[in-house]
Amino acid sequence: MSEIKGLFKNMPKLVIGDLIANLPIVQGGMGVGISLSSLATAVANEGGIGVISAVGIGMDEQDFVKNSREANKRAFRNEIRKAKEQTSGIIGVNIMVAISDYKEIVKVAVEEGADIIFSGAGLPMELPNLVGKKSKTKLVPIVSSARAARIILKRWIEKYDCVPDAFVLEGPMAGGHLGFKKEQIFDSNYSLERLVPEVINEVKKYEIKYNINIPIIVGGGIYSGEDIYKFINMGASGVQMGTRFVATYECDASMEFKQSYIDCKEEDIVIIKSPVGLPGRAIRNKFLDDVKNNLKEPFNCPFKCIRTCDYKKSPYCISLALFNAKKGNLKDGFVFAGQNAYKISELLSVKKLVESLKAEYSLGYN
Ligand SMILES: Cc1cc2nc3c(=O)[nH]c(=O)nc-3n(C[C@H](O)[C@H](O)[C@H](O)COP(=O)(O)O)c2cc1C
Repeated sequence: MSEIKGLFKNMPKLVIGDLIANLPIVQGGMGVGISLSSLATAVANEGGIGVISAVGIGMDEQDFVKNSREANKRAFRNEIRKAKEQTSGIIGVNIMVAISDYKEIVKVAVEEGADIIFSGAGLPMELPNLVGKKSKTKLVPIVSSARAARIILKRWIEKYDCVPDAFVLEGPMAGGHLGFKKEQIFDSNYSLERLVPEVINEVKKYEIKYNINIPIIVGGGIYSGEDIYKFINMGASGVQMGTRFVATYECDASMEFKQSYIDCKEEDIVIIKSPVGLPGRAIRNKFLDDVKNNLKEPFNCPFKCIRTCDYKKSPYCISLALFNAKKGNLKDGFVFAGQNAYKISELLSVKKLVESLKAEYSLGYN
């Protein structure tokens, strides 16, 4: 079929400094163990940005209980190396500010030449200092408000004489931990559509003042190519998508984990109070029902892996619960998912998913 000029539109490229992604799609980093080298490589090979999630990555290592920090570093290093061997595309990493071994894990990312560090679940105030001026690794904070973007910009300029290479703006419909209060999640004042112009306008002030370009990548509930089209049209330079990439063959989670995406209904997508002190979005199951009904006992934390985790009061270990789910043991765990996970009805290859997003995007133009 020949393309009629002006009627069909291709997705724009996403440019972050000297990195150029042919697709403006960042695969959101997903822990524990959901986005590792397999998924990240598949996305990078299609022209998007593949992202390895660092949180709890060493839990599959034999010595994790005794030596969790070393296990995390080793597993993280291996996954970055594996991904880099399998693609010439762009490989990023996602490192939550709240993890206890943040500094060491950032160091491994830089040593292994990760193309981008995405860092949220807290404000990455010290990140430029940890990475150092000589590194080529791009630094991309994940924020949920214009205020957070402003705080980071001010601090990085004042203290380190630099600015982020891009921002990810994650709205309240995302899966996993959310940067919103419970009552804000379904309040239209905090919708992604509201937040996008606010963040773009805030960042624009700095772009003009310093004559630089800071792309804004937006995510949280983005499902179709039409959604991508809408947000690119609003001024976003790219999108971050998590949920859609879980339902792919290449995703690093177990089949049971993926199957819960296929099986869930809209009413199964719930907001939970996570032990780490943030609300989170997940698929309801017996494990979460038991937590809600106070049927779980407080436990003795062996890892202290998340600084903000109130493990003395928490009825379960979130890292262990997420790791169990990744491995397919949903009796002792649960699945994080975005608000639109219920729309998923089948597994696709990353290639097929990207093809369908491209096709929908081109039609969204009309
Ligand atoms: C299973 C799952 C695990 C996630 N883990 C992380 C994580 O470790 N770090 C992080 O910054 N975001 C995490 N997220 C958020 C995603 O990176 C992404 O921003 C979000 O899922 C986008 O919304 P969507 O799922 O509606 O596309 C997770 C999301 C899901 C669904």
